[in-house]
Amino acid sequence: MSIPCGALTRNALAIRNSGILVMVRNAQTLTSTAPEPRIKKFQIYRWDPDTAGDKPRMQTYDVDLNTCGPMVLDALIKIKNEMDPTLTFRRSCREGICGSCAMNINGGNTLACLNKIDSNTNKATKIYPLPHMYVVKDLVPDMSNFYAQYKSIEPYLKKKDETQEGKDQYYQSVEDRQKLDGLYECILCACCSTSCPSYWWNGDKYLGPAVLMQAYRWMIDSRDDFTEERLSKLQDPFSLYRCHTIMNCTKSCPKGLNPAKAIAEIKKMMAIYQEKKAVAS
Ligand code: SF4
Ligand code: SF4
Ligand code: FES
Repeated sequence: MSIPCGALTRNALAIRNSGILVMVRNAQTLTSTAPEPRIKKFQIYRWDPDTAGDKPRMQTYDVDLNTCGPMVLDALIKIKNEMDPTLTFRRSCREGICGSCAMNINGGNTLACLNKIDSNTNKATKIYPLPHMYVVKDLVPDMSNFYAQYKSIEPYLKKKDETQEGKDQYYQSVEDRQKLDGLYECILCACCSTSCPSYWWNGDKYLGPAVLMQAYRWMIDSRDDFTEERLSKLQDPFSLYRCHTIMNCTKSCPKGLNPAKAIAEIKKMMAIYQEKKAVAS
């Protein structure tokens, strides 16, 4: 079958023209989807104990916000993956559940995964490890003391009579269960404790807001039988009474919890406990 010469020319012209049209359209799309880079500076605390003589310093990284996720943790992961694999920080869940990515960002303790990058590219974002903690490397603080203090309050259910253990559930009324709201959600990130001036100066003896809030959580658990013993362990001048109600802890909690209130409640319980003890003696 032969195709008329005129039709071929017209078809070829249409294809050629539509090709040009597509190219023009693509060019338009390209110009409209390639925005100007938005370079944001991240100044990050660096220190490597394995490099002899290494001194703590700030290192600056330029990140294009157009190719980065919205959170500070996204920027840290991008820097580590694409620019500097030696940058060290902790993270796991990336959704405010594990508490590992706690650090000091622009002067406040918070979780890097819940902290949105400030889109103002004229201002650098400054990142340090949690304050007043020994540093393991870069943004990784040494949490040993914090965890030892947590262990010291025995953060688990304790029964005087253990004969029923494993035989039945320990029931709790709806009202008693509700008393634990605002306490059990703590993810032990230590943002509060490391923002507390009393903890900075006496972190070896003062338990700090995070651990005290957990102590309170077990003291008021209706299923626990050791409230008085738990109180008795906090009677010294440091464990509890170094809290001066400065409230930095509550202000810094990225989960919106109120450890200062929990500490105030322990102090009230302690007053009643000590009065009872005085009457009995
Ligand atoms: S209220 Fe108490 S625990 Fe909280 S920051 Fe102040 S001194 Fe520290
Ligand atoms: S109370 Fe808040 S800031 Fe403190 S450890 Fe728990 S979640 Fe973190
Ligand atoms: S990565 Fe788990 S809380 Fe941020």
